Amino acid sequence: MMICHCNGLSDRDIHAAIDWMRAADPETIITPGKVYRALGKRPDCGNCLPLFLATMQRNDNLEVPNRPPLLRVPVHNKETA
Ligand code: FES
Repeated sequence: MMICHCNGLSDRDIHAAIDWMRAADPETIITPGKVYRALGKRPDCGNCLPLFLATMQRNDNLEVPNRPPLLRVPVHNKETA
């Protein structure tokens, strides 16, 4: 489905860009601007933004994966050791 008529971007283009960015950097925050840049485009009129965002939100790779916090290495206190 065509999402951005100014740039000729489809929902498949947006999903491919998101999937590529997530694979390249699991912790990156993916924004519409980054998606445009990844596709070598720039927004023009902005009329597509609501549909662009809705398309992004349907992608399972949009959010940063939830990972357990790093384990803390205990610091030995000289007075108690
Ligand atoms: S329709 Fe996407 S910038 Fe105009």
